[in-house]
Amino acid sequence: MVFVWMAPVRNDPSSSVLGMAVSGRGRGGGYHPTISPEVQDRIRAWHDRTYADMIRSEPIEVTCLGVDLWVPPQVFAPPPMAPLLAQVVQQEVRSSDRVLDMGTGSGINAILAASRSSQVVAVDINPHAVECASRNAKANGVGDRVQCRASDVFDQVDGRFDMIIFDPPFRWYPPRDLLEASITDEGYAAMTRFMVQVQDYLTEGGRVLVNFGTSGDLDYLLYLIDSNGFAREVLSEVELVREDWTVNYYVYRLTPKA
Ligand SMILES: C[S@@+](CC[C@H](N)C(=O)[O-])C[C@H]1O[C@@H](n2cnc3c(N)ncnc32)[C@H](O)[C@@H]1O
Repeated sequence: MVFVWMAPVRNDPSSSVLGMAVSGRGRGGGYHPTISPEVQDRIRAWHDRTYADMIRSEPIEVTCLGVDLWVPPQVFAPPPMAPLLAQVVQQEVRSSDRVLDMGTGSGINAILAASRSSQVVAVDINPHAVECASRNAKANGVGDRVQCRASDVFDQVDGRFDMIIFDPPFRWYPPRDLLEASITDEGYAAMTRFMVQVQDYLTEGGRVLVNFGTSGDLDYLLYLIDSNGFAREVLSEVELVREDWTVNYYVYRLTPKA
């Protein structure tokens, strides 16, 4: 079998156990699930229930680790699992760090990062999220430390960062609207671009925090991490049992391999 990966990944994917995931595909259409059809069905059902639960017609207020957030209907509201990543952000960000929060949503991680650092950039492809994050940063007293802007992955991002945070959409289906696009990224196009490009936005000694779980294709993310020259360490994890199904969530710290 010949393995072809058209995106500019740094290493040879043919050495990956996930060669099947990338075989014979071109740019943008390269993702194939690495999980069994039974688990895929389970994830699809989980996804549809999650999305149905997220739909609302009014803004809601959410408090996460002492941060009060106002979240309009088009924007991802931090779920009960949010502290897993948010606590790591609090622990890992240093006062001297320039920080990028990719896919900021309500702004929760940007605001927590800004409690340590005065240089935080928060981006999201969803314009409602950009407005929401900006409003929440001001309401939490860090409006002058967080710059919010619309960006498709790194398209509107300049310069390098000591810390880059990403809590990507976990699923790979086409989204039906902006809200669903917070939990599904067709063919993992954004997550793939992020992993391929992120090293170009890191300072020397820079770190990346990524949150992911087994209700997505975790092995595909691990493949992207490994094949783009990063070492990974699990900083936090939790197991959740729902409807007879165990899902594991992880926060990884990625550092470029020497
Ligand atoms: C799972 S939500 C996480 C939101 C927030 N960081 C949090 O932890 O609550 C994923 C976020 O990524 C954003 N996103 C999806 N695709 C993106 C892209 N191509 N570029 C930038 N942001 C994107 C979504 O709009 C959404 O706000």
